[in-house]
Amino acid sequence: MNRGKYPKIGETYEIILSTYCDEGQPNAAPMGIKFLRKNRVFIKLFKGTLTLNNILKRRCAIANVTSDPFLFYKTIFKEKNHLSLNYFSRSKIIDAPYLRSANGYILMTLATCKHKRSYVETEFHIKRMNLKKTRSDIYSRGAHAVIETIIHSTRIKEFSAKGKTKKTNNLIQLVNHYKELIQRVSPDSDYEKIINEIQNRINKWKNEKSIR
Ligand SMILES: Cc1cc2nc3c(=O)[nH]c(=O)nc-3n(C[C@H](O)[C@H](O)[C@H](O)COP(=O)(O)O)c2cc1C
Repeated sequence: MNRGKYPKIGETYEIILSTYCDEGQPNAAPMGIKFLRKNRVFIKLFKGTLTLNNILKRRCAIANVTSDPFLFYKTIFKEKNHLSLNYFSRSKIIDAPYLRSANGYILMTLATCKHKRSYVETEFHIKRMNLKKTRSDIYSRGAHAVIETIIHSTRIKEFSAKGKTKKTNNLIQLVNHYKELIQRVSPDSDYEKIINEIQNRINKWKNEKSIR
């Protein structure tokens, strides 16, 4: 199981990407980052985001590693709760700010960008990766989806045994949704193995119920 603090090639993680705007104000936004190979990552940046504009101009960014829901919340809903300047520090290595309370940092420079209709496919070169401060794993939607699935599965067993078909099916739909997510962000991972096993169990529970 990938419980270590280092990201795996081929998997997508959620980080908070920080950049400088035109006038030098720091900006941060949650983004998905996929590790392509050693020192190379992929980010699909939607047009219209400040992050994309900043990256096209300054050609660098810092991926802040955190699993702190507060930081994700503050950087996605910015209208009313903009992060103040003292959340950020200046990097001595690249022209991008970093979030002081993050657990780790990936300093990156833009390598390539492919413009599509509504987004730009970008690849970055990792200049430096410092995950030493990481107390918990880099945020993976796959890891969290699997925990959610485990929680749901215990309820599916209970509801199924009691013949609560509607509730059972609603939760099964959620599990199917998490499976699709895991296949997308953590393909061929242990997370996928676990969710397959859970689905086998769910099928058994459903059969047991119909035999009774
Ligand atoms: C967990 C998470 C992952 C996200 N991943 C991406 C992504 O990969 N690409 C993207 O363009 N937007 C992504 N978003 C949406 C951006 O964070 C959102 O559009 C944000 O408002 C952009 O802020 P900005 O205009 O300051 O750049 C993600 C949001 C969340 C919560």
